Amino acid sequence: MTNELIISPNKKQKEFFESTARYTAYGGARGGGKSWAMRMKMVMLAAAHPGINILLLRRTLGELRENHILPLQKMLGGSVEYREVQKEFRFPNGSRIKLGYCDAESDVLQYQGQSYEVIGLEEATHFTYFQYQCLTECNRASGAMEKPYPPRMLLTANPGGVGHDWFKRLFVDRQYRGNEKSENYVFIKSLVYDNDYMMKHNPEYIEALEALPEKRRKAMLYGDWNSFEGAFFPEFSEEMHVCAPFEIPPFWQRFRALDYGLDMTACLWLAVSPDKKVYVYRELYEPGLLLSEAAKKICRLTPPGESVRYTVASPDLWNRRQESGKSGAEIMTQNGLTGLKKADNERITGWRVVREYLNSGDDGKGRICIFNCCENLVRCLPLLRFDENVREDAADTPHEITHAPEALRYALMSRTPRAAEEKRRAPSYYYSFDGSPPEKETYRSIIDYR
Ligand SMILES: Nc1ncnc2c1ncn2[C@@H]1O[C@H](COP(=O)(O)OP(=O)(O)OP(=O)(O)O)[C@@H](O)[C@H]1O
Ligand SMILES: [Mg+2]
Repeated sequence: MTNELIISPNKKQKEFFESTARYTAYGGARGGGKSWAMRMKMVMLAAAHPGINILLLRRTLGELRENHILPLQKMLGGSVEYREVQKEFRFPNGSRIKLGYCDAESDVLQYQGQSYEVIGLEEATHFTYFQYQCLTECNRASGAMEKPYPPRMLLTANPGGVGHDWFKRLFVDRQYRGNEKSENYVFIKSLVYDNDYMMKHNPEYIEALEALPEKRRKAMLYGDWNSFEGAFFPEFSEEMHVCAPFEIPPFWQRFRALDYGLDMTACLWLAVSPDKKVYVYRELYEPGLLLSEAAKKICRLTPPGESVRYTVASPDLWNRRQESGKSGAEIMTQNGLTGLKKADNERITGWRVVREYLNSGDDGKGRICIFNCCENLVRCLPLLRFDENVREDAADTPHEITHAPEALRYALMSRTPRAAEEKRRAPSYYYSFDGSPPEKETYRSIIDYR
């Protein structure tokens, strides 16, 4: 770094630089210069406050490198040391900017117990509320500064994504709970039209934003937080769909549903009450299991005497593996997991069936209930988001949260044998993007209540 940083921020970027709030969010439309402002503010803080510890996060390493590591290296040159292994910039005055990413939900735990005076969350709506909360706990004095600096978090975001709801609540709707104080939260709205650099050098980008379909254009060009849908299953609520475990009578019909992957094995155990309500009473949610290990573990978790009628699993488990010439289903069967059955993997119909189970019936209660010990299913269901391109499908990112809901979809589809036929006959069930209620006249129940 030359010892001088000559920059010309636009009006909003200046506001972002000057904000001293505990939590400052800079967000809204695409291309307003948020990432640029985040980078510059971090460098200015590091230069001005000797010994300060700064953490700058994005969701994935690729994004982090492109968006920050490379531009910072270019800008800071030889005068600030960059350590690749730690991914940190060490300033001559003892300040430190550490760059990190949180690909999986649990990646955030690596920061537990650490202290950073300033934490920057780039594309904050790509982070879950759990990750955000974990990070707020690390936002405290590091003890490395002679003159302490009050802890701060800086966030940038566009509407949409897994963190849309918490970000909107705190910074846009300004609804506070518990000990959250409104005066701690500042929101600066960003628009691409504020970014003189883009207006001058990249007018095609602005034209591309202007040409987007209406809802996306409202969100991405005007930073409208309401035009973007939030949860894929807004009907899910812990009060209605989660219950304390109870002893399931032995005569209730039981079955399992499995979404196998080496990255994650998600298996659910379900039981059906005499009044046809489905209870999810156990889950396995574990990464890194080989097919044989997953099969054995599922068997081990099923007590002897518990009669499970079948296990429905994703159809790709029947594909032959190159190494062994055997299918995943064969390997699992050989390892004790018998009664495997191919799931109906029709996604849109399947999600529709899940939605119907979640919907309150005339009694105001859903037709599905999840024991609170199935923590991952309870955590992931409300995190699912709409796919941006296929409006009735759920997004498959972040991938980690999709496994348990997919297993639930297979499970409920297996109780809906007429779904395929109905799908051909039934008018499409359109779930509106702006949260307005479904069009009742096109809505038809496709659950089989046998
Ligand atoms: N004040 C400025 N001076 C010079 N260049 C700028 C300035 N502000 C932004 N830019 C440049 O404008 C371009 C877009 O900015 P940036 O990537 O920060 O936008 P963004 O709001 O983060 O976009 P996105 O919503 O896509 O994440 C980048 O090339 C950035 O370097
Ligand atoms: Mg950006």
